[in-house]
Amino acid sequence: MSAEPVRVAVIGAGTIAGLHLTAYAANPGVHIVGIHDINVARARAVAQEYGADRVYESLDDLLTDTTVEAVSICTWNDSHSKLAVAVLDAGKHVLVEKPLSRTVAEAEDVQRAVERSGKHLQVGFVRRFGQNALTLKRFVDGGTLGDVYFAKATNIRRIGNPGGWFADSARSGGGPLVDIGVHVVDLCWYMMGTPRPVTVSANSYTRLGNRANVTNLKRYRAADDDPDVNTVEDMVNALVRFEDGSSLLLDTSYSLHAVDDDLHISVFGERGGAELEPSLRLVTEENDTILRIEPQIDHPTFGMTEGFTNELAHFVELCRDRVPDVATAAQGVEVMRMITAMYESARLGREIDLR
Ligand SMILES: NC(=O)c1ccc[n+]([C@@H]2O[C@H](COP(=O)([O-])OP(=O)(O)OC[C@H]3O[C@@H](n4cnc5c(N)ncnc54)[C@H](O)[C@@H]3O)[C@@H](O)[C@H]2O)c1
Repeated sequence: MSAEPVRVAVIGAGTIAGLHLTAYAANPGVHIVGIHDINVARARAVAQEYGADRVYESLDDLLTDTTVEAVSICTWNDSHSKLAVAVLDAGKHVLVEKPLSRTVAEAEDVQRAVERSGKHLQVGFVRRFGQNALTLKRFVDGGTLGDVYFAKATNIRRIGNPGGWFADSARSGGGPLVDIGVHVVDLCWYMMGTPRPVTVSANSYTRLGNRANVTNLKRYRAADDDPDVNTVEDMVNALVRFEDGSSLLLDTSYSLHAVDDDLHISVFGERGGAELEPSLRLVTEENDTILRIEPQIDHPTFGMTEGFTNELAHFVELCRDRVPDVATAAQGVEVMRMITAMYESARLGREIDLR
């Protein structure tokens, strides 16, 4: 096992790459070799900011650099699958941002590349790495909740359409469902023990548009914004039924007349329940009495910097085979199966059977 720092490169030099690079730069087990972006000027600026050795003007330059061991893919969703396959086939480990792909077929391409290359791939399900989620997982695995049979996930933004490529379904693969819904679907499914989805029923609404007229509230923005582009849905609600009888209820939006933004994640078991967001709390019953349990941790609510630090630390250790694979390509495929079935159900106006 090598004690040398893992030599990483980053593809895509936009907003989220900044969080990857901040975490890599602070990790003594990492050396940042280079950056590639189709926007070369942006790659240059980011390489300078984070002290990368070099900028790759072409993808091929990166793929043929044998000193690079691992790559973070932080690009638009339409390129995730083909970039991940190319990087794996070039013999390098991959951390690919969520969603793994736009379609199940693209996700399966990645899974096959993982299998033939023997390299690691971690999907960027960063919310699994918040201290609140890491803590809850220990309670779930330890049996505090008993069998978890229901989960509820809400990720509502009132004006959260980031514009640019996020709002262009050809590049993003969809709107809030594939962008922010995917985080909470994955998190609930992970806490439930990754049961096999069997039926999916969903509704999608596109009534309000991107609400670009609202000027007095801040919102997350793509690096290249264009307020006129918008071909994605405003909101989705969905019900997933799993093989073991458990179920998941979701609602997620970019645009909705909600009185507030709302992030709520709850899981319910036979012996106890838990609210992961907005803040970790557990509930159980003892001596005919309901008990609320409030774990004393530094980050009871997910924080981006903390989450990315933990997520990338796991990936770096994975590259050295010191920790188990989590958020695997196979799990990414399964999540995409649920997400695409939700879109399909909404489009057809009926339940989709995945069996
Ligand atoms: N984990 C999270 O919480 C989280 C949050 C936001 C975004 N994301 C994900 O991160 C990814 C990037 O999002 P962002 O907000 O940084 O977008 P962004 O628009 O800020 O940056 C994307 C960058 O990728 C570059 N790019 C696009 N296609 C490319 C290609 N084929 N090759 C090289 N460069 C390419 C663009 O030029 C741009 O600089 C998306 O997949 C998004 O879903 C994850």
